[in-house]
Amino acid sequence: SDIGSIKAFADSNGLSPIPSSYYSIVEARDDVADHLASSIPVIDFSLLTSDHPQIHADAVSQLGKACADWGFFMVTNHGISEKLMEEVMNKAHEFHNLPVEEKKEFGDKGPWAPIRHGTSFFPQAEKVHFWRDYLKLITSPQFNFPHKPPGFKEVAYDYSRKIRAVARTLLQGISESLGLESKALEDCTGFDSGLQVFAVNLYPPCPQPELALGMPPHTDHGLLTLLYQNEIGGLQVKHDGKWVNVNPLPNCLIANVADQLEAVSNGKCKSILHRAVLNNRNTRISIPLVNGPEVEKEIGPASELLEKEEPLYKTIKYRDYFQLQQEIRFNADKGALDEIR
Ligand code: SIN
Ligand code: FE2
Repeated sequence: SDIGSIKAFADSNGLSPIPSSYYSIVEARDDVADHLASSIPVIDFSLLTSDHPQIHADAVSQLGKACADWGFFMVTNHGISEKLMEEVMNKAHEFHNLPVEEKKEFGDKGPWAPIRHGTSFFPQAEKVHFWRDYLKLITSPQFNFPHKPPGFKEVAYDYSRKIRAVARTLLQGISESLGLESKALEDCTGFDSGLQVFAVNLYPPCPQPELALGMPPHTDHGLLTLLYQNEIGGLQVKHDGKWVNVNPLPNCLIANVADQLEAVSNGKCKSILHRAVLNNRNTRISIPLVNGPEVEKEIGPASELLEKEEPLYKTIKYRDYFQLQQEIRFNADKGALDEIR
């Protein structure tokens, strides 16, 4: 399609029917298990970092259970200030509110481009389009940022580093929950020089939200994705065969296990399927940061785990996996994870 920005399109399209190129096969909404939303695991980060051995041990065990049962959890008391989170959200709005002309220079040059702005999911190859605009920045090992809006750089840098620190601590807790040294998962994934992708998604109101999706069902590459969003719902995660609406607690981070964590944990942590649905009233913004291994690192089940169990995943360089995921994204019944299982 010629639509370069769904926000610009939606602004001018008003309440008119949406183009049929946006029709997704959306599983019946009554398949959505809202009542389960209350049971989504909550990890209190301040307990995980407690000096008290028993409090820490209990938090580690809850974290391990959340990664195994749901592959998904909310993180409260993470220590990132409300002020910084608000600034990140404001800058996210400001970026997407720039005139289309002013964002052209960031036009998508493929998955490895350090700064990319675009619309939908994979516009070059997909058959169905998605009701989303995005900005993606590679923020580690090198920090890349757009030079506008003013002040974006400082806020994004501060936030990306704080998120990396939270991801590192969670990874240490997960390592312990697997019976490993706390640094084991960082070491075997090269986390110190790991990839971080900072994404800013904008989903404009959609006049026919039941016909389209903001993002198709997918799992994330990387180790842990930490997402912050405005107050508008839309994220759904698959749990026990049903889509569950995620209505995050105020100021919490939403964490999900990603593919490389499933592989290094030899399947103990589950990389979960998630998608974004739409509404016809409010603009939704989500800011997921993917925290991954070092791109040149060979990733497979941690060797310490293989002293007692057989490997359930092939070992593959993170860079090659990422490439593979791009290539097979539109094969409806298969994700990249199936290729290494
Ligand atoms: C994502 O999966 O990257 C984002 C989902 C969301 O917008 O909640
Ligand atoms: Fe995702």
